[in-house]
Amino acid sequence: MGVLAVLAAERKLVDAALDRLLPPSDAWPCRLHEAMRYAVFGGGKRVRPILARLTCRAAGGDPETILEAACALELIHTYSLVHDDLPALDNDTLRRGRSTVHVAYGEALAILVGDALLSEAFRVLGTYPGGDELAPRRVEACRLVAVAVGSSGMVGGQVEDLEATGQPPDSARLERIHRAKTGALLAASVELGAVLTGVDTPTRERFTRFGQSLGLLFQIADDILDVTGTASSLGKSPGKDAAAGKLTYPAVYGLPAARRKLSRLAAELRAEAVALEGRGGTLAAFVEYIASRDR
Ligand code: FPP
Ligand code: MG
Repeated sequence: MGVLAVLAAERKLVDAALDRLLPPSDAWPCRLHEAMRYAVFGGGKRVRPILARLTCRAAGGDPETILEAACALELIHTYSLVHDDLPALDNDTLRRGRSTVHVAYGEALAILVGDALLSEAFRVLGTYPGGDELAPRRVEACRLVAVAVGSSGMVGGQVEDLEATGQPPDSARLERIHRAKTGALLAASVELGAVLTGVDTPTRERFTRFGQSLGLLFQIADDILDVTGTASSLGKSPGKDAAAGKLTYPAVYGLPAARRKLSRLAAELRAEAVALEGRGGTLAAFVEYIASRDR
């Protein structure tokens, strides 16, 4: 099976698991659950849960055992998008080709959708994979994801992103923002896959470093797509970073140099993926997919 077929099959499994995990729209409070489902089932690529599962396989585990825990990453990712789109932050009206949650359901409910998705994610991480013997892995999973998305990770990166908007180009600051805002959750996805597989500490550290660089690669690609993509391919409004004066790779280095950085980092990561899982594995192909994606 080629990588695109693997990803399509993975997406189906993740979507079905998310559907099982989320409360139904007719459960109290119905409008909140409906809006949560609207946010989650909007055609996302499911990159983070898939990455956790590919890592689990590369580390010698059975990805089936971490399906639910991997879905927690998507719940957190979705919360971050819903809040990022709010009028007080990026003030976006279009996401994944549809109205953003605050446009469809109102600002108050959109804030609460984010709150509920974040809480739900930790319920899932505290519950799956089940069994008393796996309790220490679940605790470590909760801890590592909390660190990644908290004030020193994703939220911190988002805060510095706001503070840096309209400020002069600064490459060190740019990398710090990207590693935290986007990179931390992607790195945590890799780390979660490794931790729930029960790898030893040196192997975990190796996967974590790989995940951190992959997170940076993802955001460089995202910055480039904001310049080169179209609303129909991206499902969101392009050109918003430049219009808002955001610190991005094309803004700091120019588009050609940003593209060169992307290919250099992608080549390094492909080599590391091959070293981690052997030839013919899916991680290396996934790196390629992240670097060359058009949405
Ligand atoms: C696109 O993901 C999302 C990013 C590149 C992440 C940007 C970072 C944030 C929005 C952090 C916001 C944090 C807070 C606390 C508000 P994707 O291409 O995987 O999107 P998809 O799921 O639609 O495919
Ligand atoms: Mg933003």
